Amino acid sequence: MRFTRDELHGSLADPVLGTIGFLNEVMARYPEAISFAPGAPHLTHLGDFDLARHVESYLAYAAERRGLSPDRARHLLYEYGPSRGLINDLVARALDLDQGLGISPDAVVVTVGAQEAMLLTLRALCRPGRDLVAVVQPCFVGITGAARLLDIDLVAVDETADGIDLDGLRTACRAARADGRRVRALYVAPDFANPSGTVLDLATRRRLLDFAAREDLLLLEDNAYGFTAAPGSGLPGLKALDEDARVVLLGTFAKVCLPGARVGFAVADQTVCTADGSRRLLADELAALKNMVTVNTSPISQAVIGGMLLENGGSLAALGRDRATLYQRNLGLLLAALDRHLPPGAGRPAGVSWNRPAGGFFVRMRLPIPADTALLDECASRYGVLWTPMDQFYLDGSGADELRLSCSYLDPEQIGEGVARLARFLREVCP
Ligand SMILES: Cc1ncc(COP(=O)(O)O)c(C=O)c1O
Repeated sequence: MRFTRDELHGSLADPVLGTIGFLNEVMARYPEAISFAPGAPHLTHLGDFDLARHVESYLAYAAERRGLSPDRARHLLYEYGPSRGLINDLVARALDLDQGLGISPDAVVVTVGAQEAMLLTLRALCRPGRDLVAVVQPCFVGITGAARLLDIDLVAVDETADGIDLDGLRTACRAARADGRRVRALYVAPDFANPSGTVLDLATRRRLLDFAAREDLLLLEDNAYGFTAAPGSGLPGLKALDEDARVVLLGTFAKVCLPGARVGFAVADQTVCTADGSRRLLADELAALKNMVTVNTSPISQAVIGGMLLENGGSLAALGRDRATLYQRNLGLLLAALDRHLPPGAGRPAGVSWNRPAGGFFVRMRLPIPADTALLDECASRYGVLWTPMDQFYLDGSGADELRLSCSYLDPEQIGEGVARLARFLREVCP
């Protein structure tokens, strides 16, 4: 049988779905290249993992807490388990220890990565054709891709120097209302956003929460990179400032623990009133949807993450401290190498610039020429350096002259050598 792509779901033709596959494919094509492309955690931490021990730590805890024999506790690993998760109490405790959230484990759904948390949350909140989701642009492709899968319309709000163009968001809310629709939620990463590295200051966080209350929208907070803040410089997350259950927190263990476990979570403590007058949490609705998506998050993976938390006093921040030191070092090395190899004046082609984030995994660079896949191919084949074109991080086709450099996956020598090569390449190709 043969059919055209037009007969398949429209999202399959959307370039955003190909972004991650494309990067994997380029990395496979140039295995020797120095890659500033992946936002993956550094492999040095592999040595810290002892998966069997983490599982045993969790099982000992679960047996005691649930009053089970060791054998019976082991069954937790073999069975499907509840769709809302197994380690919800540990996730809630970590969020309390690290951010003072004080949320109930019932408000937590343990998901297959933050990616599933995004998908479930968008599915639950948005009625197709009526509700829109706003995203701060440039924006992580995981949320735009999930929205496309679900036929949910997005509206882009630009970043500004202090974070978000709230006037633009207000205009979008009004335009939606005038059209009989509504902006249901804003997806925002307040700490070292991917790909821009932007941090919202405290005043902007508060303004955003006030705005959300006035315009009656929810904030979908993604805090994947908050742990990379320099010691003592972290700001309270939106959920920590939220007094009105306006914020759904979308979390991941991929960057602090290990992405291969595929464990993330949603904190959804909003009350949902049903037609029969009963009340549920939004988390209950997400868990109901999850039954029809992945059924449950692998209990084996949850036990690994639960054990890692338990071995670190229950705190994700404690687990992330060493990792944060490495990423701070790598980011500093990347910025210093850019300054050294592309000094202002004759050494730097006109129109080449980059930002200076204080944390996160990424530096965003602007070129005087299109930073597209053809340029990436040329850079990879001739100079052995990979990076990520940024056009797919924009909804409106802008960003074609931007690229993202990730510092997370590389060693210091590779960062220095990779930037030296990139600088030579840019001096050759930029007018
Ligand atoms: C902004 C953002 N959120 C979440 C994630 C992680 O998602 P997951 O837990 O599905 O690996 C990433 C990974 O690249 C990310 O950049």
